[in-house]
Amino acid sequence: MTVGRFPLTRLRRNRFDRSTRRLVGENVLTTDDLIWPIFVMEGTNNVTEVESMPGVKRVTLDRLAAHVEPAAKLDIPALAIFPVTPSEVRDEKGTEALNPDNLMCRAARVLKKEFPDMGLIGDVALDPYTSHGHDGIIRDGYVVNDESVAILTRQATNQAAAGIDIIAPSDMMDGRIETMRRDLDENGLVNTRIMSYAAKYASAFYGPFRDALGSGGLLKGDKKTYQMDPANSDEALREVESDLLEGADMVMVKPGMPYLDIIWRVRETFAVPTFAYQVSGEYAMLMAAIRNGWLDHERAVMESLLAFKRAGANGILTYFAVEAAERLRKG
Ligand code: PBG
Repeated sequence: MTVGRFPLTRLRRNRFDRSTRRLVGENVLTTDDLIWPIFVMEGTNNVTEVESMPGVKRVTLDRLAAHVEPAAKLDIPALAIFPVTPSEVRDEKGTEALNPDNLMCRAARVLKKEFPDMGLIGDVALDPYTSHGHDGIIRDGYVVNDESVAILTRQATNQAAAGIDIIAPSDMMDGRIETMRRDLDENGLVNTRIMSYAAKYASAFYGPFRDALGSGGLLKGDKKTYQMDPANSDEALREVESDLLEGADMVMVKPGMPYLDIIWRVRETFAVPTFAYQVSGEYAMLMAAIRNGWLDHERAVMESLLAFKRAGANGILTYFAVEAAERLRKG
């Protein structure tokens, strides 16, 4: 890198006016970068707000098309669907995950019919369906790996068969990507893509999401035996590499803003499509400060999203997707 010396070089010159700032801008956020996570629930004609996520809704399926319409009109490329499963449908093994008519599958069918061009991402993990709120099944107090993978694999194929375009395993079991890839292929679903939550940390920032799903109160203990230690960075590269070797098409880092260094390392090391999840706790923090008048809504949100692009993310899962797309359209 060649750096000129003051006063011949004045770095502020390139910031002098808007025209120049636009010309020298290195990164740009577009609507193509946005994935909108949505919550669906049972019942009819009902919309509820997630208390810890102001502005984020849970909707019944008859209200789903109206809920998604603005995102489709703004040409947001994909949605990530999360089902709120009533506690009476949950059990120890997350059996409902395998039901071809579970809430997720029905939501996928409704959305495919209404919005055929909208990409649908299905989270694969058992936490919406287990009575204990863990992502896999428990034996002697431990979330067992291989038995969980067997069920998660069937869950993935079940979702893909219902019309989910991109399977997104968020369970952090070992070896799940390969097993899922093979099962999808054997079922003729060779073009179903896999976006693995490859580097997913055992984070405090998922709290509001667990409220949204109603799995927070159920969760026994924590997820530290399968999700990553926030202290680790090299280990994230091993996670990503193994998922890629097992057939992942895209990888994700989660949470987002506290882990920008991980996004950067992953993108630099592997040069594969890399996604960031700006999670529920990040949304809650920003909204709390915005609602108190402590942060400027538009500037804080757009800056937080641009930061992911600068760190190397190809796309961002964000609860701000619709408002960000609106702002981008207005220019
Ligand atoms: C499920 C899952 C979680 C999130 C996405 N998928 C929660 C968890 O692992 O406990 C969190 C998303 C968010 O906080 O916005 N495995």
